[in-house]
Amino acid sequence: MPAPLQFAFRAGPSGTWRIDSIKAVTGESLAAPAALEVIGPLTVPPEAGGDWTLRGVTSNTRYTNRSEVEQLEATQEGLGRPQATRAALIPIRKSEAWWSLAQDERRAVLEETSHHIAIGLEYLPAIARRLYHSRELGEPFDFLTWFEFAPEHAASFERLVSRLRESAEWRYVDREVDIRLSR
Ligand code: HEM
Repeated sequence: MPAPLQFAFRAGPSGTWRIDSIKAVTGESLAAPAALEVIGPLTVPPEAGGDWTLRGVTSNTRYTNRSEVEQLEATQEGLGRPQATRAALIPIRKSEAWWSLAQDERRAVLEETSHHIAIGLEYLPAIARRLYHSRELGEPFDFLTWFEFAPEHAASFERLVSRLRESAEWRYVDREVDIRLSR
């Protein structure tokens, strides 16, 4: 597992990704400026600026078992593919009830009950993903989830997101904003 890398997502008037939409799924939304820049890996904290900046750090996995790790490694593709001109940034916060669970109970909700990993695997390699952790940084969200895909996989990404939102795991989500981008 590579060392943790810190990234910042800065929204403002200009940036590599155009912001096509921002939708509050649960809880409070974010301001909707024109563009987003993904900055990192960072060695010093990001300069303030833009309409909002969210920070997250890559980390080791918490829940995947050996077989899932191998399936993910065999099928996933990296970020930055030229054909992947659509992206989604979905910041998520989970409730105190989630954080009060023990590790084995969280795994049971995420996978044995909600099949998050099994469902997600169905959408690889079309959807490339990266999970950033923010809770430890004192940020407003616990996670920043980032996805990249080609326009022809946009409908399939919608199905993935709606399947996950129907799952038991999402009952623990108390803030979620869905930001769609293109470049
Ligand atoms: C966590 C896979 C799509 C939100 C995870 C983990 C895996 C995974 C393996 C666990 C990481 C660990 O062990 O720590 C996938 C795959 C997807 C996908 C293969 C297919 C593209 C999504 C989508 C969302 C999402 C669309 C948001 C709408 C999250 C969140 C976590 C997570 C918030 C952290 C959960 C926690 O630690 O409590 N995902 N996922 N994932 N995923 Fe997904």
